[in-house]
Amino acid sequence: MRTDTAQIVRLEDYQPSDFLIDRVELDVRLHPTETRVTATLVMRPNPEGRSDAPLVLDGEEMNLKAVSLNGRTLTAEEFEASPQSLTIAQAPRQPFTLTVETELNPTANTKLMGLYRSSGNYCTQCEAEGFRRITYFLDRPDVLSVYNTRIEADRDDVPVLLGNGNRIESGSIDGSDRHYAVWHDPHPKPSYLFALVGGRLGRVSKTFTTMSGREVELAIYVEPGKEDRADYALDALERSMRWDEKIFGREYDLDVFNIVAVSDFNMGAMENKGLNIFNDKYVLASPETATDTDYAHIEAIIAHEYFHNWTGNRVTCRDWFQLCLKEGLTVFRDQEFSSDERSRPVHRIAEVKTLRARQFLEDSSPLAHPVRPTQYREINNFYTATVYEKGAEIVRMLKTIIGDDDFRRGMDLYFERCDGTAAAVEDFLRAFADVTGRDLSHFARWYEQSGTPRVKVKGHYDPDARTYRLDLAQSTPPTPGQAKKEAMAIPVALGLVAHDGSAMSASCDRVDQRGVFLFDKPEDSITFTGVASLPVPSLFRGFSAPVKLSLDLPNEELLVLLRHDTDSFNRWQAAQSVAMRLLVYLSTGVEVADEDIDAFSAALCSFTDRNAQDDPAFAALVVTLPSEADVAQEIGQDVDPDAIHRARSEMRRRIGQGCAKHLQRFYETLTVSGPYSPDAASAGRRALRNASLDLLAAADPDTGEALAVRQLESASNMTDRLASLSVLTTLPGAVREEAIARFGDRYRNEPLVLDKWFTLQAAIPEDGTLERVKALMQHPAFSIANPNRVRSLIGSFAMLNQVQFNRADGAGYRFLASIVLRADELNPQLAARLLTAFSTWRMMESTRRSHAEQVLRSIAQKPNLSRDVGDIVSRSLE
Ligand code: ARG
Ligand code: ZN
Repeated sequence: MRTDTAQIVRLEDYQPSDFLIDRVELDVRLHPTETRVTATLVMRPNPEGRSDAPLVLDGEEMNLKAVSLNGRTLTAEEFEASPQSLTIAQAPRQPFTLTVETELNPTANTKLMGLYRSSGNYCTQCEAEGFRRITYFLDRPDVLSVYNTRIEADRDDVPVLLGNGNRIESGSIDGSDRHYAVWHDPHPKPSYLFALVGGRLGRVSKTFTTMSGREVELAIYVEPGKEDRADYALDALERSMRWDEKIFGREYDLDVFNIVAVSDFNMGAMENKGLNIFNDKYVLASPETATDTDYAHIEAIIAHEYFHNWTGNRVTCRDWFQLCLKEGLTVFRDQEFSSDERSRPVHRIAEVKTLRARQFLEDSSPLAHPVRPTQYREINNFYTATVYEKGAEIVRMLKTIIGDDDFRRGMDLYFERCDGTAAAVEDFLRAFADVTGRDLSHFARWYEQSGTPRVKVKGHYDPDARTYRLDLAQSTPPTPGQAKKEAMAIPVALGLVAHDGSAMSASCDRVDQRGVFLFDKPEDSITFTGVASLPVPSLFRGFSAPVKLSLDLPNEELLVLLRHDTDSFNRWQAAQSVAMRLLVYLSTGVEVADEDIDAFSAALCSFTDRNAQDDPAFAALVVTLPSEADVAQEIGQDVDPDAIHRARSEMRRRIGQGCAKHLQRFYETLTVSGPYSPDAASAGRRALRNASLDLLAAADPDTGEALAVRQLESASNMTDRLASLSVLTTLPGAVREEAIARFGDRYRNEPLVLDKWFTLQAAIPEDGTLERVKALMQHPAFSIANPNRVRSLIGSFAMLNQVQFNRADGAGYRFLASIVLRADELNPQLAARLLTAFSTWRMMESTRRSHAEQVLRSIAQKPNLSRDVGDIVSRSLE
């Protein structure tokens, strides 16, 4: 077991910086292996810092060339330097200028943090602590500086030079083959928002006029030749800018907004001021290469990074414990944007599906942590579903509790007060407390307490008194570091539904005019009066709080909700609840009567039938069963993934047979004519049609195979082509292998399409898959150094393939461990991410559990683990 206790950073230890950096002049001379960086820092002691403190600048793998103070070169006795820090014990007590020269090797930078190269181009990633890999610095988000960046490079190799802010100068360097550009960003910013790009890039652009009439040049830079694939992203950017003006009154604040797409990127994208850098999979799209889902992701992530300009950049974070202040809030904002641009109910269901699959899973695992963590060893391991998605749910609950108008007033006050500052969660909540006069201290517990609350509800109807009482109880399970839990302030949006679907005129004085009851005690009861008949309760409408509800409604009553609830989320939830109950029974050997499955399947047929034409996207969600991972999470202990797989296959077969006529009709009638368009309505038709194909194939493999082969050959877009290939991967045999081979050949020069091809194969729930994955690692397009390739092949195997990753012989676990260790030598962030696939190990049955534990222990024993992997492995074993 590793004994190394790498330094732990604690929220309670926060101290303001002892020094401030008001201005930064960077001079960067790009070179593949010997890039020179001269940083001139205009500094002064911080009046809020300690007056006797030494100056300690952060560094990582730094190669120092020279350092001078107020223009005088320092002698070796006057400072102390290591690759990790630069210390000046006797720093001046008045303003001073420190000049530091360092040399970097961007080509050798495989961590993809700091300055690195991707497809030959230069780019940077500085969040969270990458700037210290470029120069020594006070690399913390509460040190805000105005940056001037001069970038110089070879004119032919690196024609495009981009920096933060506005370009103020550019030109060639006489008598050489080099050129330069100077960028100035007037907005003070922390170092994590710094960026530069240099390379050979194609460009698309358009002009945007802001609400106050200023002209902004929007541009997206991509690999030359792929310019037309950036049109959709550019359009999404323009729509995002318009939306933020309309909904939040937020205007853009520079003359240019640049986005650069790169092929090697650890995360989705990065909101550097005026120069967003994106994983190219979230920029590039064409009907031939991208699916409807890809288009939706591009729209959401373009919006997310743009919205950071106010929530993250203008108002930034005091320290990394406040990460949710920008991330949770910005996810909330991008979700609202997508809901407005598409179908709100459909989008809400998609949000909740991801929340449950990723955040609820994390919250019940050894890696559970509060939305605002209180300590970390490696901050990169806290860019999690909890910080992002649960963080967004907290903002949504706040809005549900105080209402739309007060929410907007609170946001305005937050921006007004905190603009230009590095803020904390308290500053955010205070704005809403001040505009509403409410005490939000109990609500604040959502940021502090980890674990998913469980809410148990029982209903009691009194026909004589015509009252209906709901008894509620809440509890939150223990999580690492938090054995005992307090009650949470849970907004329950609710209503009553009559068995025949008619509206009920019941009332309850504990429920506000928006239909919300604030449940903030361990137990409580509320009573409705004037209830004419036995109702079915519809609770947590729109998923009003991130909790698990236990309410034992019989299937018939759930099907009443599926049919009649006015809340679309709960209509979908009702079908999921019935499906989940049946799947859990089938998986755990509880007898299920045939009639129960038939009744469910009949309800699905008639529901889909009624909605197929008007809202096919919604109908597609309703006919899609919970995933195998969802079922495993619901079972929660002694999980047997093989049993779950058999149960789910059986259910798909039964529903496919039961609904065959309807499904065939959807498949025939929901075709989309005309050229491909990624709009929500067309995407919805494709979604239901392809979901129908999947169920038809489950019911009758021969028919399914024939339909899928025909669709694969005739499809005019990637959504339909990939859907048919996906169906074929569920049908073993020569036809499948032939289809896979042809698809791989057709797209051999399209890495982002090959990623989808890797993913489909890695997810095949058959014994040969591990060998297949190993063989695909030899594919010319695969590279262990490229995060997209690794995630699509290895990550998908570990996260999507329940039966093969969790093989009873432990081979899936051993394989993942070997890849994690290999990846860790190149890119610790990527390795640590992959390793989180083990977070479910404790819920497996004992054979698998002991294999997983053994594998985790063997990783923990390896010498020279990165801090990233060391942290995940040790927490996973706690
Ligand atoms: N702030 C980025 C976002 O928009 C995430 C960047 C995180 N990068 C990292 N290396 N931890 O969500
Ligand atoms: Zn973000």
